[in-house]
Amino acid sequence: MQITGSAKRYAEDEAQALAVAVFINEKADEGFLKELDAATGGLVRSVIETEELKGKEGELVYMHLVSDKSGGDGKLKAQRLLLIGVGERADYKPAQISQTAGAATRFLRSKNVKSIAFVPRAEGDAESIVAAAVEGGIMSLFDPDKYRTSDKEERTIDRFTVIIEDADENALQQGAEKGRIIGEAVNYTRDLANEPGAYMTPTDMAARAEQIAKEFGLEVDVLDEARMEQEGMGSLLSVSRGSEQPAKMIVLKYTPQNAGTQNGNELLAFIGKGVTFDTGGISLKPGESMELMKYDMTGGATVLGAMRAIAQLKPKIPVLGVVPSVENMPSGTATKPGDVVRAMSGKTIEVINTDAEGRLILADAISYAKKLGATRLVDMATLTGAVSIALGDVNAAILGTDQKLIDEVIESGREVGEKFWQLPLDKEYTKQIKSDIADIKNVGGRKAGTITAAAFLKEFADGVAWAHLDIAGTAWSDDAKPYRAKGPTGIAVRTLLKIVERAENQFDGNDQSNAARP
Ligand code: BES
Ligand code: MN
Ligand code: ZN
Repeated sequence: MQITGSAKRYAEDEAQALAVAVFINEKADEGFLKELDAATGGLVRSVIETEELKGKEGELVYMHLVSDKSGGDGKLKAQRLLLIGVGERADYKPAQISQTAGAATRFLRSKNVKSIAFVPRAEGDAESIVAAAVEGGIMSLFDPDKYRTSDKEERTIDRFTVIIEDADENALQQGAEKGRIIGEAVNYTRDLANEPGAYMTPTDMAARAEQIAKEFGLEVDVLDEARMEQEGMGSLLSVSRGSEQPAKMIVLKYTPQNAGTQNGNELLAFIGKGVTFDTGGISLKPGESMELMKYDMTGGATVLGAMRAIAQLKPKIPVLGVVPSVENMPSGTATKPGDVVRAMSGKTIEVINTDAEGRLILADAISYAKKLGATRLVDMATLTGAVSIALGDVNAAILGTDQKLIDEVIESGREVGEKFWQLPLDKEYTKQIKSDIADIKNVGGRKAGTITAAAFLKEFADGVAWAHLDIAGTAWSDDAKPYRAKGPTGIAVRTLLKIVERAENQFDGNDQSNAARP
């Protein structure tokens, strides 16, 4: 798909379909719509005056421009016009632009349209607007039916252009490129999350990381079980003991070329749970919906997707990505409830429930990231079923020890349209994970399951700024949206990239910004 930004007049674009945003209660006889109405021989006025289109978010009106009157007289080069309601002007920010572009693109593909010119009609920085639109357009084209062989819709879009008349050409091209990189990274993550467990083992995940490193230029290091043994990662290794598949600790590192930017010894690290299949182990899960546990590596896939984009976007700050990857299986060699394991940090853990495995692998990944010099950690994991009970599929949970970092994640999420809701992490919750036989145990009872899971991780994240995202309820969507197929959502990839962008800007003037930090 050819992706561009264009500063030319929308009427002149050669695309088959023109997709135009319409605000709530907009009049057809003034401003932009008046001009569009004239070019379409009155079509715009007719759908607005009959209230077929009110401009409410999500409304779509699709029209053919065939006769001399409706565009055929050369006023519009397009043969189709899609009007998309976007609601209030004040709420129309990059997150909404992205969804609007997505809804338009997915709809037009279903009509077998091959080339689209999208007119976002947003105010503000052209680069960000184009980036948001392109990102949304690309994300909307993802479908989870990779292994379908019959009755498959193979419709593709050849050209996607975002039109902002009279905008700076450079800004348009940079925005288009940035949007492409980000949209593709999200879809990369979704593709990984969607893979069956048999095709996405820890070894496969490591191979993907190595591929990314080679293709885009990142440092990569994959620790095998022998090296993890040497590092003392008894907590992580206890999870993979029941599996035939060897565990891998995947490390990707991005270092900016231009060493001119200094941010002290700050090192931002993203850590993602990579359980390639979670049967629960000896504490076996019930059979119903167990097939979905293939997506228990979504946190890890999110880190790989984000690192893939970071390698291309080349921010001015270094970023570390760590993915502990295991398969959680029951067998004669599996860890048993009641077993005590020793984590890399030296803490001993009583494994009460082998299905609370995510925290066991993250514990050692956090310790290892610290050993590699990480000072700000953001981990993400499909960690608890309890988070769906608390927040449903609308918000992911965020918890942590550093309010500034937590706020940064929440605000980054807001900018890209991903919602994080903070849950408390008072020290009282830690009582629930005290063990009679060891330092801590890996479950904290029925109460506050998402919080006690985070309280467990907190035991390993001391000494650094840390935020934890529980994406178990938001990583997989049971129903489709106009801008998104059902299945893996790619939640958090764009938020991580926004965190990097914001951190980079914060440190831009390095000396001053360092001094300004509390
Ligand atoms: N991978 C699951 C959590 C999960 C559940 C993710 C549903 C996505 C959808 C995790 O490893 C798990 O099994 N958690 C247990 C913890 C419990 C044993 C304390 C849970 O939430 O039931
Ligand atoms: Mn589990
Ligand atoms: Zn799990």
